[in-house]
Amino acid sequence: MKLLVVVASVRKGRAGKKVADWFVEAVKKDGRFEPTLLDLKELDLSYELPETLPSMVQDGKYEEAKDREWAKYVDDADAVVFVSPEYNHSIAASLKNAIDHLFQEWNGKPVGVVNYGASSMAFSFVAFWVAATWVKMDVVGPRVSIPEIWAAFDEAGNLAHADYHEYETNGMLGALEAKVTAKK
Ligand SMILES: Cc1cc2nc3c(=O)[nH]c(=O)nc-3n(C[C@H](O)[C@H](O)[C@H](O)COP(=O)(O)O)c2cc1C
Repeated sequence: MKLLVVVASVRKGRAGKKVADWFVEAVKKDGRFEPTLLDLKELDLSYELPETLPSMVQDGKYEEAKDREWAKYVDDADAVVFVSPEYNHSIAASLKNAIDHLFQEWNGKPVGVVNYGASSMAFSFVAFWVAATWVKMDVVGPRVSIPEIWAAFDEAGNLAHADYHEYETNGMLGALEAKVTAKK
């Protein structure tokens, strides 16, 4: 099973890449999914959406080459995990923009979230859930949640409470696996 892991933050000095690298290793250790890492900073989607509504586009035939590339990443994956920070009790604009660029590719796609930030990130998960549900993502309840992100990694890059976060990862991957298997 193929898992697309999306780095949502494009902020200078972001923690997101470190969190995503840790998560990819946890997925490999788990062994059920083959992860592909995609960085929204590198994908560099336009913030100017095309004239045609994404919901009117069929079979990935978007006007913009970048949107077709993004659509193919999502379409090729059995499931998607967003590594998503909380900004002002919501999701990062970069993640909302990435969601907005597509539509059909999201329909029924099993999706999970690795949240990180200052506190529990419950607000951003709910904000994500509202948009995700509208585009018909199949979001799993279990999520990975890493609070106090500024203190979460030591200088050697080790994640504090890694056992607990691997336990969370196991729960989320199990829920994604169940959805992927049910769709096959
Ligand atoms: C604009 C902004 C707003 C933030 N708002 C919240 C928030 O509402 N809740 C929270 O838990 N953390 C909040 N934080 C802390 C971030 O989650 C934390 O800085 C995290 O490292 C951001 O992810 P990034 O470094 O990958 O960009 C905010 C950070 C920024 C930059």
